[in-house]
Amino acid sequence: MNADTPRFLRACRREPVDRTPVWIMRQAGRYLPEYREIRREHTLLEICHTPELACEVALQPLRRFDLDAAILFSDLLVPAAALGVDFDIVENRGPVVKRPVRDQAGVAALTLSSDLKELDAVFETVRLLRRAIAVPLIGFAGAPFTVGSYLVEGGASRDFRECRLLMYREPGVFDDLMERLADLMCAFIERQAAAGVQAVQIFDSWAGILSPAEYRRHALRPTRRVLETVKTLGIPSIHFGTGTAGLLDLMAEAGGDVLGVDWRVRLGIVRQAFPERAIQGNLDPMALLAPPEMLDRMIDEVLADAGPSPGHIFNLGHGILPDTPIDGVHRMVRRVHERTQAAPSR
Ligand code: CP3
Repeated sequence: MNADTPRFLRACRREPVDRTPVWIMRQAGRYLPEYREIRREHTLLEICHTPELACEVALQPLRRFDLDAAILFSDLLVPAAALGVDFDIVENRGPVVKRPVRDQAGVAALTLSSDLKELDAVFETVRLLRRAIAVPLIGFAGAPFTVGSYLVEGGASRDFRECRLLMYREPGVFDDLMERLADLMCAFIERQAAAGVQAVQIFDSWAGILSPAEYRRHALRPTRRVLETVKTLGIPSIHFGTGTAGLLDLMAEAGGDVLGVDWRVRLGIVRQAFPERAIQGNLDPMALLAPPEMLDRMIDEVLADAGPSPGHIFNLGHGILPDTPIDGVHRMVRRVHERTQAAPSR
């Protein structure tokens, strides 16, 4: 990679950078008044399926903050339409699946559309965004387990009861679901890359509810298949999850270039344990609602914990909260850049 490579992509490859790159999970979203304005007129799914709107919304945070990457605006469940899943996204609740997938017949009914035509708007959004921005564009997909958990539960869940029961009572059916989702995500990512995304984040957000043994049995293989597909495309992958302290060795085995962790994990320990990976994270999103001095302190702690060696992408440990003050975001982006600029070895 030459010297003109953007710092976000350099950090993914653990190459030295002039300052630590920063982007924010859910950086396009409800904490922005201009996003709320568009949402008054359109549902979330309307935005996702209208390339001009999705592109506009993805650009909003870049206009305000000096971010080092953009992320495609879509939702985790959007690609499930290409498996014939009927769902809605309900304010303050998240995805609601009309007919939850809870048995063999339900899984067998999930057949992948051959050309992903249901997702054309997503790929058009990628093309529009690439023309509109100078920073790298991150595409994304849900990991099979995390998307599968929504399909089985029918929506967000606290204890993932139905999902775990299906896994324990009918492991073969559950694995069939995982493999179908892996097929979908591989095809989805290939098409995103063809349209121009320069990196991919795999949201394994709810992997942390699994024991390491269950992760190995039911989640590792399909997730590794998705990450291997990203590798063949020649772009870096970020493998993100929450509550994953006990799963990091398995996530490393899954093969992503960057391990994304939440604030309950020490970056220094991740670095030591997995020196061949870059890391992403991990400020508590709630820190952005703290008084400025406390926010500064928490940012500095993340930077200190990440240490000076190359391969750190600064981010929150999970998505930004809807009531986050804009000033806090400005302060964070500025501070990360200022604090890391001087360090010559980064
Ligand atoms: O990061 C970005 O800016 C890109 C956009 C993006 C959205 N969803 C838009 C969105 C991304 C990357 C996602 C991923 C996503 N969606 C995940 C994985 C990330 C994570 O949090 O771990 C999950 C679990 C979902 C499912 C989902 N969609 C939930 C739980 C919710 C929240 C429900 C609520 O109202 O609080 C959504 C809705 C959603 N997706 C919003 C946005 C901006 C909320 C705002 C709205 O309704 O307009």
